[in-house]
Amino acid sequence: MTQITLINGDGIGPEISDSVIKIIEASGLKISWDIQTAGADVIEQEGTPLPERVLNSIKKNKVALKAPVTTPIGKGFRSVNVQLRKSLDLYANLRPCKNLPNVKTKFENVDIVVVRENTEDLYAGLERQVDKDTAESIKVITRDASERICKFAFDYAVKNDRKEVCVVTKANIMKLSDGLFLDCYRQIAENYPQIKKREILVDNLCMQLVQNPSQFDVLVLPNLYGDIVSDLCAGLIGGLGVAQGANIGLDYAVFEPVHGSAPDIKGQNKANPTALLLSAIEMLKYIGENEYAEKIEKALFKTLSQSKFTCDLGGALSTSEFTDAVIQNL
Ligand code: NAI
Repeated sequence: MTQITLINGDGIGPEISDSVIKIIEASGLKISWDIQTAGADVIEQEGTPLPERVLNSIKKNKVALKAPVTTPIGKGFRSVNVQLRKSLDLYANLRPCKNLPNVKTKFENVDIVVVRENTEDLYAGLERQVDKDTAESIKVITRDASERICKFAFDYAVKNDRKEVCVVTKANIMKLSDGLFLDCYRQIAENYPQIKKREILVDNLCMQLVQNPSQFDVLVLPNLYGDIVSDLCAGLIGGLGVAQGANIGLDYAVFEPVHGSAPDIKGQNKANPTALLLSAIEMLKYIGENEYAEKIEKALFKTLSQSKFTCDLGGALSTSEFTDAVIQNL
């Protein structure tokens, strides 16, 4: 039986994880879940939000499904997500944003794939307090990391029959750091004559995305812009409840939704499990379980087509009612 690490997270994490496990089980696919707790809830007992056992489990199983984990703002431990991505060198954050059946949004025909660099930029964690009134964060951009993320984006485009890869920077202002990212894009792009190229500044991109998003195909961005733009793109397709994601490296892959732990709706049986479910569907495709992936995707799309929605999409179903509806449609 395939063994997969499951980090069931905190906040709404356990509720949506339960939902997804139930749906996968009901599809008939047998998975042995290696459940690993992480985050704020384990700090007291284990002294860290990301114990070594979690990393060891992913190293053993190679693939993980991850629900969101809270990162307290301000002082304290580093983000579990940032640590996980760095420790396992999950350098590519892939966030496909495509309209879902019957989910009403401002625009139709949104089909954007955000490829976000996942290991450096302002997420390098290099901050210092210069004096009591001044703090600095260092933005790190390296040739190696920029080249490999641009290569990932172009390879993804070729494999998935996409037409264009657009690079997003602020190289007019950050001439050295974003300038290097742009240079790497231009060099890598030369190896892909069949894919259209485009360069855009991040501020212009944001404006264009909220006016005419269907003009974009694959976007490749440094870490921080990728983080912000992928939430914007999530908004274009129905919000965080439906936005899937994956962190992919050479050796390991961790599939997780774009959204966080949503403490405002924790424990209320209200959360939309769709984003985690779509991430799990991609995970099943990644491990070669295409037949089950398609079966579950069909059941999910049928459920949405029947206007069975959780409240974030304007419906009245609870997490468990939505889960049951998907299972019924399997
Ligand atoms: P959030 O994504 O948790 O919530 C933003 C808004 O979206 C809230 O109103 C929430 O109720 C709603 N929302 C999110 N997911 C939903 C779902 N599945 N169904 C229905 N509504 C949903 O962002 P926020 O509040 O900024 O962050 C909360 C915590 O999550 C923070 O500690 C943050 O660091 C952490 N976080 C963790 C991530 C991860 O584990 N990958 C990613 C992003 C944030």
